[in-house]
Amino acid sequence: MFITFEGMDGSGKTTQIAELTAYLRQHHHRVLTTREPGGTAIGDQIRAVLLDNKESAEMHPHAELLLFCASRAQLVGQVILPHLQAGGVVICDRFIDSTYAYQGYGHGLNLDTLRHIITFATGGLLPDVTIFLDISPRKALERRAKATLFGDEYNRLDDMALPFHEKVYAGYQNLILAQPDRFIVVDADATPDVVQTRIRAALAPYLQLPMPPSEPPRAPKSSSKQKTAPIKKKAPRKDNLS
Ligand SMILES: Nc1ncnc2c1ncn2[C@@H]1O[C@H](COP(=O)(O)OP(=O)(O)OP(=O)(O)O)[C@@H](O)[C@H]1O
Ligand SMILES: [Mg+2]
Repeated sequence: MFITFEGMDGSGKTTQIAELTAYLRQHHHRVLTTREPGGTAIGDQIRAVLLDNKESAEMHPHAELLLFCASRAQLVGQVILPHLQAGGVVICDRFIDSTYAYQGYGHGLNLDTLRHIITFATGGLLPDVTIFLDISPRKALERRAKATLFGDEYNRLDDMALPFHEKVYAGYQNLILAQPDRFIVVDADATPDVVQTRIRAALAPYLQLPMPPSEPPRAPKSSSKQKTAPIKKKAPRKDNLS
């Protein structure tokens, strides 16, 4: 079973994956957790190149895309596929949808070109389930600002970046609409514990997990369009073509 987590920077992916991994292991699943870019020795070298150049405008966007996909090809071939073939659960912190959302919708690279390059890199592998942690771009930026020592400065810089993050968020919405069977949208504007309970409930039918107690009813949020998808009860998808 291949599970990916997607969402804005600061939506809580890393926090939730750590909790979920521990929980699944308690329930005797063999879980391998990994992240993009990186996750292999070669991928970690590529990650360092990408991070080194994050603040500079020197790296060509096409070079950046190919490096992300080179790291992904290595990760799929060396780590993800072998673990899936051995019957394990793989949880990946960002995968193909981040490329569409950030490089495609955010930076404007052609989506069809991306599809070809991504499919080449992954051999057509798709996640069985993609959890989208749904919080608004502004909320995500606020969370990350709080997490830094230099919160105020970070806020100003990120405010300038807000239009970009809004494009990324809108891109994710398009991806979700196009593939509603693969995505599970989880309202992530809540405490980490509540978000974790929602994720466990969403995954329970896929992984033979106990269904957590349902949440107490809440007043609807007037200003938010966020939704939590109904829990899917059907068997995980087996096709792997985009
Ligand atoms: N539900 C939550 N409510 C409030 N703060 C949270 C919540 N979940 C995570 N945080 C905090 O928000 C910050 C970002 O969380 P986290 O690193 O898990 O997000 P992320 O989606 O992995 O971000 P990135 O894409 O940048 O890696 C952290 O400081 C974390 O402690
Ligand atoms: Mg993270």
